[in-house]
Amino acid sequence: MNSQDIFILAIESSCDDTSAAVLHNDKVLSNVVANQHIHEAYGGVVPELASRAHQQNIVPVVHQALAKANIDKNSLSAIAFTRGPGLMGSLLVGTSFAKSLSLGLGVPLIEVNHMQAHILAHFIEDPEMAKPEFPFLAVTISGGHTQIVRVMDYFEMEVIGETIDDAVGEAFDKSAKILGLPYPGGPLIDKNAAQGDPKTFEFPIPKVGGLDFSFSGFKTSVLYFIQKEVEKDPDFIEHHMNDICASIQDTIIRILMKKIKKAVKETGIRKVAIGGGVSANSGIRKAMQDAEKELGWQTFIPKFEYTTDNAAMIGIVGYHKYLKGDFTDETIAAKARFSI
Ligand code: KG4
Ligand code: ZN
Repeated sequence: MNSQDIFILAIESSCDDTSAAVLHNDKVLSNVVANQHIHEAYGGVVPELASRAHQQNIVPVVHQALAKANIDKNSLSAIAFTRGPGLMGSLLVGTSFAKSLSLGLGVPLIEVNHMQAHILAHFIEDPEMAKPEFPFLAVTISGGHTQIVRVMDYFEMEVIGETIDDAVGEAFDKSAKILGLPYPGGPLIDKNAAQGDPKTFEFPIPKVGGLDFSFSGFKTSVLYFIQKEVEKDPDFIEHHMNDICASIQDTIIRILMKKIKKAVKETGIRKVAIGGGVSANSGIRKAMQDAEKELGWQTFIPKFEYTTDNAAMIGIVGYHKYLKGDFTDETIAAKARFSI
């Protein structure tokens, strides 16, 4: 081992996934994620239950991450953790655990902004992933976030557009709920959409200024449409499930692409990197690939395991902060609202 060997243990607990990862420099040795299935019964994340599940999961998940990486805790160079943004009760579990471990081991503590981590996930060293060059545009789309960010350097980022209400993942999940699909409904809409015709039904594209997004009106328009049709045909959803899903997905993608194209035009930056759970959507992936072919963009889509909430992305931020000597002390507190 030499001074180039930096081992970071990273912890993520901002929402409903408890995750721990070990990185050797910018390579991921392990990335363990415990999903919380308890929320499925409630049709969405219940914050109180999420905190309790994190409490139960955190120690076994960290043990597993260390075991899979084959690293002894005494070899760790630093502990990185998600400080925010996220659910306060969830963040407290990871923050308190990370602080205690760093004190116990006598190694530095590194605070990480979850949104920066979704973006810097593109810099994980992996043969299946290309790293974007600065400057680029990052589009983070998930159940909790929808942002377009101008990324000038690792820690020089500016949010140039974001949702003014629901996140795009919520638009998928809430539409799915209206159709009677279980939570999280995004992947199910994607699956059904593959068998449907996106031109069958039309939903309005919201009018929002600049590079911002709005999805709450979209969800309401889906609700009213379904209520109206079900009055005429009680089995409307069953008869048209695939076409409804395809039409919903197509509209959401048109809303996203319209603003991404506007952002490229306004900034002159033609490199676009997407991240967050919704970047798993086959429609958005195709739209990005089409933009690459037709508009000459360079697009970057990380491996699926690094797009949804995970600790490896916290670890890569931890690594870059370690190189800068950017450490924090044990008085640090979790921050539910935390801008980039
Ligand atoms: O990043 P993530 O795992 O967690 C956060 O919300 O931060 O994202 C989860 C979101 C959910 O809303 C889920 O429905 C959505 O990502 N999602 C999808 C797909 N896979 C996951 N939405 C549309 N199509 C998919 N294939
Ligand atoms: Zn996230």
